[in-house]
Amino acid sequence: MEKLMITGGRPLQGTVSISGAKNSAIALIPAAILAESEVILDNLPLLSDVAVYSEILEELGAKVAWEGSQMKIDPSSIKSIPMPNGPVKKLRASYYMMGAMLGRFKEAIIGLPGGCNFEPRPIDQHIKGFEALGATVTNEHGAIHLHAKELRGTKIYLDVSSVGATINIMLAAARAKGATTIENAAKEPEIIDVATLLNSMGAIIKGAGTETIRIEGVSEMHGCRHSIIPDRIQAGTYMIAAAATRGNVLIDNVIPKHMEALTAKMQEMGIGIEEYDESIRVLGAPSYGHVDVKALVYPGFPTDLQSPMTSLLTQAQGVSVLSDFVYSNRFKHVPELVRMGAKIRVEGRSAIIEGGQLNAAKVKAADLRAGAALVIAGLTVSEGVTEVAGVEYIDRGYDHLVSNLRLLGADVWRQTE
Ligand code: EPU
Repeated sequence: MEKLMITGGRPLQGTVSISGAKNSAIALIPAAILAESEVILDNLPLLSDVAVYSEILEELGAKVAWEGSQMKIDPSSIKSIPMPNGPVKKLRASYYMMGAMLGRFKEAIIGLPGGCNFEPRPIDQHIKGFEALGATVTNEHGAIHLHAKELRGTKIYLDVSSVGATINIMLAAARAKGATTIENAAKEPEIIDVATLLNSMGAIIKGAGTETIRIEGVSEMHGCRHSIIPDRIQAGTYMIAAAATRGNVLIDNVIPKHMEALTAKMQEMGIGIEEYDESIRVLGAPSYGHVDVKALVYPGFPTDLQSPMTSLLTQAQGVSVLSDFVYSNRFKHVPELVRMGAKIRVEGRSAIIEGGQLNAAKVKAADLRAGAALVIAGLTVSEGVTEVAGVEYIDRGYDHLVSNLRLLGADVWRQTE
């Protein structure tokens, strides 16, 4: 097991280039199953979750060639085999195998997903969608069994606008008979990315990025080449790290529109932001004002930046209130930040954060974004060495984190425990 060692107190300076979006990549890879010929994905992030997904596809008989940021997936020899165990258990997003396999083979047996379990994360809306399309869904010994004589287009209203359910239903409905409408669909940029790929593969999907998505089912889909959108959460994490260390960083290869909720909050705190076509510069200032933040579905403030933002708000003057309306209890980073001297208390869905100096400590990441929060906190502390354990979580969402931070002037290294 490795841990990250950080001697902070150095303002981050320079340029960091953002890779493709993890939460797109892990939906686009299973989407390739729906094609009959080769799909090429460009701008792929080099992450452990992506590696697990390529393992899953290879187990099914697909040919996967992954070189640098490009993955070629030839799904022509893929077979429908049950996957109750194995790599699907390592990954939360293995639930996309349900929609993709159902679309392609009208059947699937997929083990219940693993991944970052910061709180119970139900998949009832995914299942409701599959059933509405005509599938029988049962849970047998921890694996979901899906089967349909045929999938028929229908109207599905999501009780919560879930990213995963919206994408999963799009995957299955792309190969259904007739048209499917998803109402109260999630609007995250990753949904648009998946719809763009599926359309390039021959699907007919309209309205992605709005709350109503219409999918006209097609009987055959083909290969194509697609470039993944930049990772807005990785970009946001570097923006927050730049501000927390009072640095000056150009975050390159981003879509500034995707960052609006964060940039607005940072500006409100008194942080300098310069926006360009495909990059954003963050200019730290000697002191920041407190703000209240509400994590909501897109285009609201992203829940995935809630933990990193907690660390930034420890650097603001006064009391900030950060609430998460997507997950009810995603605050596993808080006790660790408190070990570092932060004055934070959690009340219901909110963290109440009083600004003040942090100190070095030995802390442990309990999930991916909690890990990012702890790294940012460590970067603000100049005395002593902050040790962050649980690096395997951080590696799930941030490729080249250590080398990127070092290029920006941070004193960070990996150490084997
Ligand atoms: N929900 C349900 N039933 C469902 C599905 C979701 O009640 O069937 C609830 C969840 O419990 C949650 C809310 O709806 O309270 C939103 O969940 P959503 O389904 O949108 O989340 P997800 O698809 O499981 C993706 C990302 C998460 C990110 C959320 C929200 C992937 C693989 N994961 O999860 O990313 O937090 O959307 O934007 O795309 C991360 O990157 O660190 C991460 C956890």
